Amino acid sequence: MRLKRAKIVGFVSIKGGVGKTTTVSNLGLILAKNFKKKVLIVDGNFSGPNLALHFGFNKAGNSLHDVLEGKVNLHKAIYEHTSGLHLLPAALYSRKVDYARFHQYMASLRSYYDLILIDSSPASNAEMLATVLASDELFVITTPDHVTLSSTMHAIKLARQKRTYLSGIILNKVKGKKYELGLDYIQDLTKVPVVSVLKEDEKILEALSKSKPLSALNNNRDSVVEYKKLAAALIGERYKDTRIKSRVKGLFTKKVTQDEVNRAIVMVSHY
Ligand SMILES: Nc1ncnc2c1ncn2[C@@H]1O[C@H](COP(=O)(O)OP(=O)(O)OP(=O)(O)O)[C@@H](O)[C@H]1O
Ligand SMILES: [Mg+2]
Repeated sequence: MRLKRAKIVGFVSIKGGVGKTTTVSNLGLILAKNFKKKVLIVDGNFSGPNLALHFGFNKAGNSLHDVLEGKVNLHKAIYEHTSGLHLLPAALYSRKVDYARFHQYMASLRSYYDLILIDSSPASNAEMLATVLASDELFVITTPDHVTLSSTMHAIKLARQKRTYLSGIILNKVKGKKYELGLDYIQDLTKVPVVSVLKEDEKILEALSKSKPLSALNNNRDSVVEYKKLAAALIGERYKDTRIKSRVKGLFTKKVTQDEVNRAIVMVSHY
């Protein structure tokens, strides 16, 4: 068997509720299900874990907390989803835990996976720092408003201080309103490329009510296709949107959007 060497990719924000867990669960599922990659998703939100709940997984089995407390072997806390995706959950009834060795545990898993995705805790604290230090690169999630963007600036500063590579910003819950901050404004201010723009999509909430990432239920929705494009870039591939509406649009405009260009850079760096 070829020894793999997974890149470890962290998804961070300082403001809560912007879509980190949604992004990690959808990207992980798409990479395993659609692209047949060996992927591990990790709940690095030690004090408010819920990545497992996005997959309807609520058993009180071994968890990352048990591993960090030295109670169980790391591999005994990893679960396999029906899609082939692997999940390392944190304890649902979370407790204080020392995550100083988190990055070592993550590094020890590299040879088993193509990619390891870490869902981080919000807030600028040691918990989020654990993800920053364990990751080779980071994506920062933000929504298009000033309040969230100011927290996003803090997250970016922290990543830069720790010299963790910032691959891009994921702009989430975009309503398409005039009062929202635009991609250009966000890029100018942060000096970080925006690699995905995801619209506010009620179906994401509906899927969560069924304890499933939307990409488990729907293959063609805009938000799922956006996730597919980013997932492809993470494995050095370009995803071609073959939906009729995209082909028709392509007949009238050949313009490449800024996020497409930025994703191509991510793609090349993962090739
Ligand atoms: N594009 C979207 N459109 C509509 N709802 C969304 C979208 N993305 C995420 N949500 C919803 O927003 C809520 C928060 O998302 P999520 O849990 O992924 O955020 P988070 O950043 O992980 O939060 P926390 O910081 O608390 O861990 C969830 O109910 C999720 O379903
Ligand atoms: Mg979360």
